[in-house]
Amino acid sequence: MTVVILNGARSCADLTHSLCIEVECQLAAQFTTVRSLHLAGYDIGHCTGEFDCFVKTPGRCRIHDEGQEIERAHWFRAFTKTHALNLGSPAWGPPSLGAIQRPGAALRPVPLSPAVNSTRRRSHDQTQTPPIHNLENTMNLSVPQLQALVHAATLAPSSHNTQPWLFRIEDQAIELLADRTRALPVNDPDDRELTISCGCALFNLRVAAAAAGLQAQVEPWPDADDGDLLARVHLLPTGSGQEVAALKAAMDERRTYRERFASTAVDPTALRSLVDAVHSEDAILSVLDTADQRLGAAALVAEGDAMLWANPSWRRELAAWMHPRRRGDGLTLPALAIPVAQMVVRTFDMGHGVAAKDRQLADESPVLAVLSTKGESPRDWLVAGQALQRLLLLGVRLGLQASYLNQPVQVATLRPKLQQITGRPGHAQLLLRLGVPTQTLPAAPRRPLGDVLVTAS
Ligand SMILES: Cc1cc2nc3c(=O)[nH]c(=O)nc-3n(C[C@H](O)[C@H](O)[C@H](O)COP(=O)(O)O)c2cc1C
Repeated sequence: MTVVILNGARSCADLTHSLCIEVECQLAAQFTTVRSLHLAGYDIGHCTGEFDCFVKTPGRCRIHDEGQEIERAHWFRAFTKTHALNLGSPAWGPPSLGAIQRPGAALRPVPLSPAVNSTRRRSHDQTQTPPIHNLENTMNLSVPQLQALVHAATLAPSSHNTQPWLFRIEDQAIELLADRTRALPVNDPDDRELTISCGCALFNLRVAAAAAGLQAQVEPWPDADDGDLLARVHLLPTGSGQEVAALKAAMDERRTYRERFASTAVDPTALRSLVDAVHSEDAILSVLDTADQRLGAAALVAEGDAMLWANPSWRRELAAWMHPRRRGDGLTLPALAIPVAQMVVRTFDMGHGVAAKDRQLADESPVLAVLSTKGESPRDWLVAGQALQRLLLLGVRLGLQASYLNQPVQVATLRPKLQQITGRPGHAQLLLRLGVPTQTLPAAPRRPLGDVLVTAS
């Protein structure tokens, strides 16, 4: 863990911000995970309510962190420091850590991922689940059993951790609805990723049902007049596939693993079973195993990064989903880092820097693979989500984790090029990197169950 303390720049918040950016970027470029970034010399007289301060009187600042009010002075004494940087001297004196540069030097990307990972909970927390009201037990399943099925569904990954789903208990069935209030209109104008995310939740529901000895029969888009009703899952007491049920334990262990993987090669048999798992969900997994394929994909990732970051609306949308973890969704960061990180993301086009880092991640990944569908419709996206989650859970069973390099899929003009690299027909939906993790990451937060359950009208 690295704690960086910036001293000085007392009277200029903007300057302090730029130092933060620079320090964090430099450390990220060395693949150092920055867990905390503190502004020791921040001038309270210039406080604008950032860092979750809610008392703006100079000298009486209180910081609100993870729901706890902490006295500023006390708090500064409390944390451990591994590296303390003094970059605030009037002459911008020599940096005390490696290659830290003086302000004004070219900015490098702010690493969202290490900070995002740093704040996750140790495990998915079910303890705060509120009671479900007006929920009749219509399936001879107890309310806790129904809750457990829906809870399992919510452990699925989702784009920007938006968790764009709702669940409705209907007679003998659980319905999955898209919550389009959680859409990402810039990043995902057609709700493609939103539907894929819901597909992941649907697969988790199937797994949890199977593990409970139930057969989950999925009826996709059961109501032609209701585009938000993505699937009705009929729960039958007839038992179900062992293979799917066996994935249950992996649900809680799966993480989006944005760190570097171990250099260990992935066992070809394991890889083959991942390809088969995706195929069994009617999608296609193409492993990019030639040097040309990998280089081509890495170049598209870099190109996609440059194009996405150049779009201020895209950056604004990303910043809007950077939340303190108590919110239960979004790309979580420590409460104190959020204003800086949001400001950086909103303000700077860091496309080229991010591109370089992502390109490196792509180059180094033990496995790079494209998940494609046969068609390009909401039905195909729901298929893609189920296939993705099956792949991710089986991967965990095989000792692997995954993360996404979706930039070429998110830029419409690059998508066909990515598919072309696979050398197969189809529609690229996701570009994944897979490998053996070197650490166990805490889980990303989830919304409480009560927020995602809707009662039948
Ligand atoms: C359809 C889809 C697209 C995603 N795209 C990205 C991406 O481009 N970059 C990334 O870092 N994570 C991506 N993610 C991962 C989410 O950010 C992640 O699932 C979410 O933050 C929750 O964390 P968890 O997967 O560890 O539970 C994507 C997830 C889904 C389902």
